[in-house]
Amino acid sequence: MLACPLCQATLAQLDNGVACPAGHRFDRARQGYLNLLPVQHKNSRDPGDNQAMVEARRDFLDAGHYAPVARRLAQLAAERQPQAWLDIGCGEGYYTAQIAQALPAADGYALDISREAVKRACRRAPEVTWMVASMARVPMADASCSFIASVFSPLDWQEARRLLAPGGGLMRVGPTSGHLMELREVLYDEVRPYADDKHLALVPAGMTHAHGEILEFRLSLVEAKARADLLAMTPHGWRASAEKRAQVIEQPEPFVVTVSMRYDYFVRQD
Ligand SMILES: C[S@@+](CC[C@H](N)C(=O)[O-])C[C@H]1O[C@@H](n2cnc3c(N)ncnc32)[C@H](O)[C@@H]1O
Ligand SMILES: [Zn+2]
Repeated sequence: MLACPLCQATLAQLDNGVACPAGHRFDRARQGYLNLLPVQHKNSRDPGDNQAMVEARRDFLDAGHYAPVARRLAQLAAERQPQAWLDIGCGEGYYTAQIAQALPAADGYALDISREAVKRACRRAPEVTWMVASMARVPMADASCSFIASVFSPLDWQEARRLLAPGGGLMRVGPTSGHLMELREVLYDEVRPYADDKHLALVPAGMTHAHGEILEFRLSLVEAKARADLLAMTPHGWRASAEKRAQVIEQPEPFVVTVSMRYDYFVRQD
Protein backbone atom coordinates (compact mmCIF):
# COMPACT_ATOMS: atom_id res chain seq x y z
CA MET A 1 0.00 0.00 0.00
CA LEU A 2 2.84 2.42 0.79
CA ALA A 3 4.89 3.46 -2.24
CA CYS A 4 8.41 4.85 -2.39
CA PRO A 5 8.30 8.66 -2.77
CA LEU A 6 11.43 8.45 -4.97
CA CYS A 7 10.67 5.57 -7.35
CA GLN A 8 7.02 4.58 -6.57
CA ALA A 9 7.91 0.92 -5.92
CA THR A 10 6.11 -0.83 -3.07
CA LEU A 11 7.64 -0.20 0.34
CA ALA A 12 8.25 -3.15 2.66
CA GLN A 13 8.27 -2.89 6.45
CA LEU A 14 11.59 -3.10 8.27
CA ASP A 15 12.12 -3.01 12.03
CA ASN A 16 12.91 0.68 12.12
CA GLY A 17 11.29 1.94 8.95
CA VAL A 18 10.39 0.99 5.39
CA ALA A 19 12.40 0.34 2.22
CA CYS A 20 11.83 -0.25 -1.49
CA PRO A 21 13.59 -2.88 -3.65
CA ALA A 22 15.84 -0.14 -5.10
CA GLY A 23 17.25 0.45 -1.63
CA HIS A 24 15.56 3.73 -0.74
CA ARG A 25 15.05 3.62 3.03
CA PHE A 26 12.86 5.78 5.25
CA ASP A 27 13.01 5.87 9.02
CA ARG A 28 10.33 5.38 11.59
CA ALA A 29 10.68 8.06 14.26
CA ARG A 30 10.76 7.22 17.95
CA GLN A 31 7.19 8.56 18.22
CA GLY A 32 6.02 6.06 15.59
CA TYR A 33 5.50 8.07 12.42
CA LEU A 34 7.29 7.42 9.11
CA ASN A 35 9.46 10.07 7.59
CA LEU A 36 8.61 9.83 3.89
CA LEU A 37 9.66 13.30 2.85
CA PRO A 38 13.00 12.99 1.03
CA VAL A 39 15.28 15.95 1.50
CA GLN A 40 15.13 16.74 -2.23
CA HIS A 41 11.34 17.19 -2.00
CA LYS A 42 11.57 19.79 0.76
CA ASN A 43 11.34 23.42 -0.28
CA SER A 44 12.51 24.58 3.11
CA ARG A 45 14.28 23.01 6.05
CA ASP A 46 11.11 22.85 8.09
CA PRO A 47 8.11 22.98 5.75
CA GLY A 48 4.47 23.29 6.80
CA ASP A 49 2.99 24.73 9.96
CA ASN A 50 5.43 25.68 12.70
CA GLN A 51 5.33 24.67 16.35
CA ALA A 52 3.46 27.79 17.54
CA MET A 53 0.67 27.32 14.98
CA VAL A 54 0.41 23.60 15.65
CA GLU A 55 0.19 24.10 19.43
CA ALA A 56 -2.39 26.89 19.16
CA ARG A 57 -4.55 24.66 16.94
CA ARG A 58 -4.13 21.68 19.23
CA ASP A 59 -5.18 23.66 22.32
CA PHE A 60 -8.14 25.25 20.58
CA LEU A 61 -9.41 21.98 19.10
CA ASP A 62 -8.80 20.00 22.30
CA ALA A 63 -10.94 22.54 24.16
CA GLY A 64 -13.82 21.20 22.02
CA HIS A 65 -14.75 24.41 20.22
CA TYR A 66 -14.99 22.65 16.85
CA ALA A 67 -16.28 19.33 18.20
CA PRO A 68 -19.46 19.42 16.06
CA VAL A 69 -17.31 19.81 12.93
CA ALA A 70 -15.30 16.71 13.76
CA ARG A 71 -18.38 14.73 14.80
CA ARG A 72 -20.09 15.38 11.48
CA LEU A 73 -16.96 14.48 9.53
CA ALA A 74 -16.63 11.20 11.43
CA GLN A 75 -20.30 10.40 10.73
CA LEU A 76 -19.90 11.10 7.03
CA ALA A 77 -16.81 8.87 6.95
CA ALA A 78 -18.60 6.05 8.80
CA GLU A 79 -21.55 6.18 6.39
CA ARG A 80 -19.15 5.41 3.55
CA GLN A 81 -17.49 2.40 5.20
CA PRO A 82 -14.13 2.61 3.40
CA GLN A 83 -11.55 -0.18 3.61
CA ALA A 84 -8.65 2.22 3.52
CA TRP A 85 -8.75 5.94 4.17
CA LEU A 86 -6.31 8.83 4.21
CA ASP A 87 -6.34 12.24 5.89
CA ILE A 88 -4.31 14.63 3.72
CA GLY A 89 -2.88 17.64 5.59
CA CYS A 90 -3.86 16.08 8.91
CA GLY A 91 -2.21 18.74 11.08
CA GLU A 92 -2.00 17.64 14.68
CA GLY A 93 -4.53 14.91 14.11
CA TYR A 94 -7.66 16.12 15.89
CA TYR A 95 -10.00 15.22 13.04
CA THR A 96 -7.94 12.18 12.03
CA ALA A 97 -8.31 10.55 15.43
CA GLN A 98 -12.09 10.88 15.28
CA ILE A 99 -12.23 9.39 11.80
CA ALA A 100 -10.11 6.48 13.11
CA GLN A 101 -12.54 5.96 15.98
CA ALA A 102 -15.50 5.93 13.59
CA LEU A 103 -13.80 3.38 11.31
CA PRO A 104 -12.24 0.80 13.65
CA ALA A 105 -12.05 -1.95 11.00
CA ALA A 106 -10.47 0.14 8.25
CA ASP A 107 -6.80 0.87 7.49
CA GLY A 108 -6.12 4.50 8.34
CA TYR A 109 -3.35 6.68 6.91
CA ALA A 110 -2.59 10.32 7.59
CA LEU A 111 0.04 12.71 6.34
CA ASP A 112 1.26 16.23 6.79
CA ILE A 113 4.38 18.01 5.59
CA SER A 114 4.94 19.48 9.06
CA ARG A 115 7.01 17.28 11.33
CA GLU A 116 5.91 19.31 14.34
CA ALA A 117 2.30 18.45 13.51
CA VAL A 118 2.77 14.73 12.83
CA LYS A 119 4.99 14.26 15.87
CA ARG A 120 2.04 15.30 18.05
CA ALA A 121 -0.68 13.73 15.91
CA CYS A 122 0.65 10.19 16.09
CA ARG A 123 0.05 10.01 19.84
CA ARG A 124 -3.66 10.37 19.30
CA ALA A 125 -4.22 7.14 17.37
CA PRO A 126 -1.34 4.64 17.21
CA GLU A 127 -3.35 2.35 14.91
CA VAL A 128 -3.13 4.92 12.08
CA THR A 129 -0.10 4.96 9.75
CA TRP A 130 1.24 8.50 10.27
CA MET A 131 3.55 10.02 7.68
CA VAL A 132 5.55 13.17 7.25
CA ALA A 133 5.05 13.52 3.50
CA SER A 134 4.03 15.97 0.83
CA MET A 135 0.53 15.97 -0.58
CA ALA A 136 2.08 16.74 -3.97
CA ARG A 137 3.75 13.29 -3.95
CA VAL A 138 1.76 11.05 -1.65
CA PRO A 139 3.75 7.87 -0.90
CA MET A 140 0.84 5.53 -1.58
CA ALA A 141 -0.12 3.39 -4.58
CA ASP A 142 -2.64 4.41 -7.24
CA ALA A 143 -6.27 3.65 -6.33
CA SER A 144 -5.28 2.60 -2.81
CA CYS A 145 -7.83 4.68 -0.87
CA SER A 146 -11.58 4.53 -0.79
CA PHE A 147 -12.00 7.63 1.36
CA ILE A 148 -9.85 10.75 1.57
CA ALA A 149 -10.40 13.61 3.99
CA SER A 150 -9.02 17.11 3.42
CA VAL A 151 -9.83 19.45 6.28
CA PHE A 152 -8.89 23.12 6.13
CA SER A 153 -5.91 22.24 3.99
CA PRO A 154 -4.53 22.99 0.61
CA LEU A 155 -5.16 20.09 -1.75
CA ASP A 156 -3.49 18.59 -4.80
CA TRP A 157 -6.55 17.44 -6.73
CA GLN A 158 -4.66 15.33 -9.28
CA GLU A 159 -2.95 13.42 -6.48
CA ALA A 160 -6.27 12.89 -4.70
CA ARG A 161 -7.77 11.49 -7.88
CA ARG A 162 -4.80 9.18 -8.44
CA LEU A 163 -5.10 7.79 -4.91
CA LEU A 164 -8.83 7.12 -5.03
CA ALA A 165 -10.18 3.73 -5.98
CA PRO A 166 -13.09 3.84 -8.45
CA GLY A 167 -16.22 4.55 -6.44
CA GLY A 168 -14.18 6.07 -3.62
CA GLY A 169 -14.42 9.72 -2.70
CA LEU A 170 -12.81 12.79 -1.28
CA MET A 171 -14.48 14.69 1.56
CA ARG A 172 -13.30 18.29 1.60
CA VAL A 173 -14.12 20.41 4.62
CA GLY A 174 -13.53 24.15 4.45
CA PRO A 175 -14.90 27.47 5.66
CA THR A 176 -17.91 29.16 4.05
CA SER A 177 -17.84 32.88 3.34
CA GLY A 178 -19.61 33.47 6.67
CA HIS A 179 -17.06 31.60 8.78
CA LEU A 180 -15.76 33.67 11.74
CA MET A 181 -17.53 36.74 10.34
CA GLU A 182 -17.67 38.53 13.71
CA LEU A 183 -13.93 38.07 14.16
CA ARG A 184 -13.17 39.37 10.67
CA GLU A 185 -15.42 42.40 11.32
CA VAL A 186 -13.31 43.39 14.32
CA LEU A 187 -9.96 42.68 12.65
CA TYR A 188 -10.45 44.39 9.31
CA ASP A 189 -11.80 47.80 8.37
CA GLU A 190 -13.48 46.20 5.41
CA VAL A 191 -14.49 42.53 5.38
CA ARG A 192 -13.88 41.32 1.88
CA PRO A 193 -16.34 38.66 0.81
CA TYR A 194 -14.70 35.57 -0.63
CA ALA A 195 -16.09 32.84 -2.79
CA ASP A 196 -16.20 29.59 -0.86
CA ASP A 197 -16.89 27.45 -3.92
CA LYS A 198 -13.75 28.25 -5.93
CA HIS A 199 -12.50 24.71 -5.39
CA LEU A 200 -15.41 23.36 -7.42
CA ALA A 201 -13.69 24.66 -10.56
CA LEU A 202 -10.55 22.65 -9.71
CA VAL A 203 -12.19 19.23 -9.60
CA PRO A 204 -10.47 17.10 -12.24
CA ALA A 205 -12.23 15.12 -14.95
CA GLY A 206 -13.33 11.73 -13.65
CA MET A 207 -14.53 13.13 -10.31
CA THR A 208 -18.03 14.42 -9.62
CA HIS A 209 -19.58 16.39 -6.79
CA ALA A 210 -21.86 13.86 -5.10
CA HIS A 211 -22.82 15.61 -1.86
CA GLY A 212 -22.62 19.03 -0.24
CA GLU A 213 -23.82 20.38 3.10
CA ILE A 214 -23.21 23.26 5.47
CA LEU A 215 -22.76 23.05 9.23
CA GLU A 216 -23.21 26.29 11.14
CA PHE A 217 -23.21 27.12 14.84
CA ARG A 218 -22.35 29.95 17.21
CA LEU A 219 -19.37 29.71 19.48
CA SER A 220 -18.95 31.73 22.64
CA LEU A 221 -15.28 32.22 23.46
CA VAL A 222 -15.07 33.14 27.11
CA GLU A 223 -11.36 32.65 27.78
CA ALA A 224 -8.74 35.03 26.40
CA LYS A 225 -6.57 31.97 25.71
CA ALA A 226 -9.19 30.50 23.33
CA ARG A 227 -9.36 33.75 21.37
CA ALA A 228 -5.58 33.99 21.18
CA ASP A 229 -5.37 30.37 19.97
CA LEU A 230 -8.03 31.00 17.33
CA LEU A 231 -6.08 33.99 16.04
CA ALA A 232 -2.83 32.04 16.01
CA MET A 233 -4.31 29.15 14.00
CA THR A 234 -6.02 31.20 11.30
CA PRO A 235 -4.50 33.46 8.62
CA HIS A 236 -6.40 36.34 10.26
CA GLY A 237 -4.04 36.17 13.20
CA TRP A 238 -1.01 37.19 11.19
CA ARG A 239 -2.79 39.48 8.71
CA ALA A 240 -4.40 41.79 11.29
CA SER A 241 -2.66 44.55 13.23
CA ALA A 242 -1.36 43.93 16.76
CA GLU A 243 -3.83 46.49 18.06
CA LYS A 244 -6.84 44.72 16.55
CA ARG A 245 -5.61 41.37 17.77
CA ALA A 246 -5.32 42.72 21.31
CA GLN A 247 -8.87 44.07 21.01
CA VAL A 248 -10.17 40.56 20.30
CA ILE A 249 -8.11 38.86 22.98
CA GLU A 250 -8.64 41.35 25.78
CA GLN A 251 -12.26 42.35 25.42
CA PRO A 252 -14.16 41.73 28.65
CA GLU A 253 -17.26 39.92 27.33
CA PRO A 254 -17.34 36.50 25.74
CA PHE A 255 -16.58 36.77 22.05
CA VAL A 256 -19.35 35.18 20.01
CA VAL A 257 -18.39 33.93 16.55
CA THR A 258 -20.17 32.00 13.85
CA VAL A 259 -18.54 28.77 12.78
CA SER A 260 -19.63 27.88 9.28
CA MET A 261 -18.23 24.93 7.34
CA ARG A 262 -19.01 23.35 4.08
CA TYR A 263 -18.55 19.65 3.43
CA ASP A 264 -18.18 18.64 -0.21
CA TYR A 265 -17.87 15.04 -1.33
CA PHE A 266 -16.38 14.17 -4.71
CA VAL A 267 -16.62 10.65 -6.06
CA ARG A 268 -14.19 9.08 -8.49
CA GLN A 269 -15.96 7.30 -11.33
CA ASP A 270 -14.85 4.21 -13.32
C1 LIG B 1 -4.86 24.73 8.38
S1 LIG B 1 -3.90 23.28 8.66
C2 LIG B 1 -5.18 22.05 8.87
C3 LIG B 1 -4.76 20.88 9.70
C4 LIG B 1 -5.87 19.88 10.08
N1 LIG B 1 -6.46 19.24 8.93
C5 LIG B 1 -6.92 20.59 10.89
O1 LIG B 1 -7.92 21.02 10.31
O2 LIG B 1 -6.73 20.71 12.10
C6 LIG B 1 -3.18 22.92 7.08
C7 LIG B 1 -2.14 21.83 7.14
O3 LIG B 1 -1.65 21.56 5.80
C8 LIG B 1 -0.28 21.22 5.92
N2 LIG B 1 0.36 21.35 4.60
C9 LIG B 1 0.62 22.47 3.90
N3 LIG B 1 1.23 22.17 2.72
C10 LIG B 1 1.32 20.81 2.68
C11 LIG B 1 1.86 19.90 1.71
N4 LIG B 1 2.41 20.31 0.59
N5 LIG B 1 1.82 18.57 1.99
C12 LIG B 1 1.25 18.13 3.15
N6 LIG B 1 0.74 18.96 4.09
C13 LIG B 1 0.77 20.28 3.86
C14 LIG B 1 0.25 22.17 6.99
O4 LIG B 1 1.47 21.73 7.56
C15 LIG B 1 -0.91 22.19 7.98
O5 LIG B 1 -0.76 21.22 9.00
ZN1 LIG C 1 12.46 3.66 -4.17
